[in-house]
Amino acid sequence: MASSSSSKFFISLVVAGFLVSAYAGNLNDNFDITWGDGRAKILNNGELLTLSLDKASGSGFQSKNEYLFGKIDMQLKLVPGNSAGTVTAYYLSSKGSTWDEIDFEFLGNLSGDPYILHTNVFSQGKGNKEQQFYLWFDPTSDFHTYSILWNPQRIM
Ligand SMILES: *[C@@H]1O[C@H](CO)[C@@H](O)[C@H](O)[C@H]1NC(C)=O
Repeated sequence: MASSSSSKFFISLVVAGFLVSAYAGNLNDNFDITWGDGRAKILNNGELLTLSLDKASGSGFQSKNEYLFGKIDMQLKLVPGNSAGTVTAYYLSSKGSTWDEIDFEFLGNLSGDPYILHTNVFSQGKGNKEQQFYLWFDPTSDFHTYSILWNPQRIM
């Protein structure tokens, strides 16, 4: 990502399932609900954010601030059972037509069949760096921490 030193990322999480996020500060100060027509809610004076899916669509939120470098730890527990057709995506993205982006996408599956974790990195609007993984644990049975670290040298 040659020019990534000038990119600032927004942190986003969108879900086509149900998810609850707890946060030490006030979620209203740092995040906007960006998508979901009432399916996403910030509750308990900004301590809790819930995303949900219905037959029409999912929901999502995004950081108000942009971050030049950093490490994000996102704790997620994915939709159990028949999750086929659902996608839970956690990504960092800059703005503009030649944006940079780092993606985690969890592709749901039928009951008993494994989720696929799909990752991608965009540099100046170009992706084509998809990788897919089967996880070595059940991502629906508990919360797990998925981290993205990016700095001037590398993305991990
Ligand atoms: C669903 O599970 C099947 C069987 O293991 C696998 O072949 C397929 O790639 C999985 N699909 C997704 C989207 O995870």
